[in-house]
Amino acid sequence: MSQNSETSGRKDYSHEATKDGPLYKFFLDGLKDMYFAEKHILEALPKMKAAATTEELQDAFEDHHLVTQKQVSRLEKVFKSIDEKAEGKKCEAIIGIVKEGESIIQDTDEGTMTRDAALIIAAQKVEHYEIASYGGLVALAETLDLGRAADLLQTTLEEEEETDLDLTDIAESFINFRAADEDEDDDSEDYEYEYDDDDDDDYNNNSLVL
Ligand SMILES: [Fe+2]
Ligand SMILES: [Fe+2]
Repeated sequence: MSQNSETSGRKDYSHEATKDGPLYKFFLDGLKDMYFAEKHILEALPKMKAAATTEELQDAFEDHHLVTQKQVSRLEKVFKSIDEKAEGKKCEAIIGIVKEGESIIQDTDEGTMTRDAALIIAAQKVEHYEIASYGGLVALAETLDLGRAADLLQTTLEEEEETDLDLTDIAESFINFRAADEDEDDDSEDYEYEYDDDDDDDYNNNSLVL
C-alpha cells in the first residue's frame, strides 16, 4: 500500500471510466460506511472518556476525538477528490461495536481499573474495525487508480494503527496489572485476567480474558 506523493493535491479524473462499475460502487459505499462510522465514534468517545478511571485513558480518548474530527474532514476530501457528495450510510457494525462498549460502562464499577481494562478492549474493537475498513479502501482506491483518495485513506489507516498500539501500551503499562489486583481483592469472578509478559509480541497482546 504505497503512497504516491506525485498524486497528492490533485483530483482524480481517471476514475470516470469506471464510475458505473460495481467495484467503484462498492468503494463509494465503503466510504459512506466510514463517514457514518467516524461520526458515530465522535459521539461515543466523550462518553468513554467520562467513564474512564485513569487520566491516561481519558487523555487517550480525548486525543482520539481530535484525530477523529480530522478524519471526518479527510473523508470529505476523499469524496471531493472523486467528485462525489460526502454522505454517510448507516453502518450496523459500528453501531453494534459501540453499543458493546457502552454496555461495559454499565457492567463495570466506576473508578476501577477493571473498567479501564475493558474500555481499552472495547476501543480496540473499534480501531480494528476501522483498520480493516480503511485497509480495504486503500487497496480499492489503488486498484481503481484513485491516487489522491488512496493517499488520504492511507494517512487515516496509519492513525488508526497508531491508536491501536497506543491503547495496548496503556493497558500493558499498568492498567491490566492493577485490574488483576482488583480481582484478587474481590471474590467476584466476572473477569479473569492473565498477564502475558512476552514483550516480543508488542502488537495487540493485551491479555484480558473475558
Ligand atoms: Fe477513525
Ligand atoms: Fe479510530
